[in-house]
Amino acid sequence: MPPLSRRRFLTLLGGMSAAGFGGARCLDAATAAREAGDAPFTTKLRIPARAGLLAERRLARPLELVAGVDRLPVFDGFASNVWNYAAAGDAHDPLLLARRGDDVDVTLSNRLGQDTTIHWHGLALDEANDGSGLHPVHHGERRRYAFRVANRAALYWYHAHPHFHTGEQVHQGMAGLFVVEDDEELALREHLDLAWLERDLPLMIADKQLARRNELAYKAGADDWIGNRVLVNWTPEPYLDVERATYRFRIANASNARMFRLAFVSNGNALPLHLIGSDGGLLERPMPLRDCFVAPAQRVDVLLDLSALAAGARIRLCSLAYDAMENDGGAAGEDPMLEHPGATPMGGAMDLMELRVGRAPARRTALPRRLAALPAPAARGEPVRRFRFRISERGRWMINDWNFLLTGHAPVFEVARGAKEVWEFANEFRSMPHPIHLHGFQFRVLERRGSPAQARARAVAPGGLGAQDLGLLDTVVVWPGERVRIAIDFAQRFAGTQTYMLHCHNLEHEDQGMMVAFSVRDA
Ligand code: C2O
Ligand code: CU
Repeated sequence: MPPLSRRRFLTLLGGMSAAGFGGARCLDAATAAREAGDAPFTTKLRIPARAGLLAERRLARPLELVAGVDRLPVFDGFASNVWNYAAAGDAHDPLLLARRGDDVDVTLSNRLGQDTTIHWHGLALDEANDGSGLHPVHHGERRRYAFRVANRAALYWYHAHPHFHTGEQVHQGMAGLFVVEDDEELALREHLDLAWLERDLPLMIADKQLARRNELAYKAGADDWIGNRVLVNWTPEPYLDVERATYRFRIANASNARMFRLAFVSNGNALPLHLIGSDGGLLERPMPLRDCFVAPAQRVDVLLDLSALAAGARIRLCSLAYDAMENDGGAAGEDPMLEHPGATPMGGAMDLMELRVGRAPARRTALPRRLAALPAPAARGEPVRRFRFRISERGRWMINDWNFLLTGHAPVFEVARGAKEVWEFANEFRSMPHPIHLHGFQFRVLERRGSPAQARARAVAPGGLGAQDLGLLDTVVVWPGERVRIAIDFAQRFAGTQTYMLHCHNLEHEDQGMMVAFSVRDA
């Protein structure tokens, strides 16, 4: 299959997907649906419970997760074959909870029929526990992940990461949420009266391509896999009953390739939000915004104040239209959207969830001015390493001259443990947005240059930084034509040589080799 065909198709759609920032199409879709008399949001949002998908499990005790396939009810009608991590008590892809400092002990038992792993996305772990494809767990085997949680409180996640099959396994369901709590963050919840799972809710958003009989459809070797259904917490077309109060949504984009531009829309307006956290936990202060880009693997922590809304109001969580910037051109091929019947093209507007405002008296909460203490970026100045993201003449996604399929597993560079480095990620203009993920370390963004208009329009701090860039990140979007500098502190508690991955979290890019291994060791 020509690898670039879908992007080419979208390039031809050009003007359509770049339909401005107003969110009009999102609203039009909602209005049209209402006028047509159908109520598209008919399923109550799944909230983590004792059993089922997203069931909650505390990691205070050892846990066994069995990778396998189960028939689970997700959509109306037929149950779906969901590849998942199952825990005792009928939990599937459980939401795992730990306190900072906890010792976690999870045994993976693989019954999937192929290699898999558990990668603990965002956690600072040694190579043996990181769960990358360097340490595959074969079918019929077990592997114990035992580690201390050193990260700040935040929403992290876990997912399968076997070489060349991450896209397929994640799409088919091998992913879940991982919440870390600490005193600082619990104090904030208390201050804002945010009861967990009542007004403090995780939202795991992922698009899936659904085929006949509700089967999740994936094509090995695919490119930029997008889907025709969007699930929020494994719920299609969900609604949530809310009160006129402040809500906290901790949102993770668990899609293979789709970036969202999230907003809560009421009567044609994107409601004001406060971003309070990013991948690696709380920001220093709440940052006001009305929408935000959330790329695959990224998390955003937002507060939404509903106290001024009318009883009975309906609000939509939308992905507003944006310019997908799939600028890489590429070979003409058959219409690749044929693989995704019913899918909204990348950058197209979508309604994701409805909030139904109840009639109880409104409650107003004052936002704290300060949220958390955040260490300053570890370094500034000229980058010591530069990475260029580009597409080769043969249509392969490259990081410098590396591609994992060609370069292999051997580390392509070494970092001295304890070094404080500035890295520069440069994306060519003839490219597309790449969400770049670093294993093992959270980092700070120092600067964005050459940002496209839709990123520039969201700059809130010197250096062209957006609100998310003010927190700790493990995944950063690098737009076409952009140069992003980040600062990383390579201090860690581990000894010896630890090998990690740096890759694009568009999972099809990762599987096609847009990934390298690098090592951290004592100088
Ligand atoms: Cu979330 Cu290397 O991945
Ligand atoms: Cu990419």
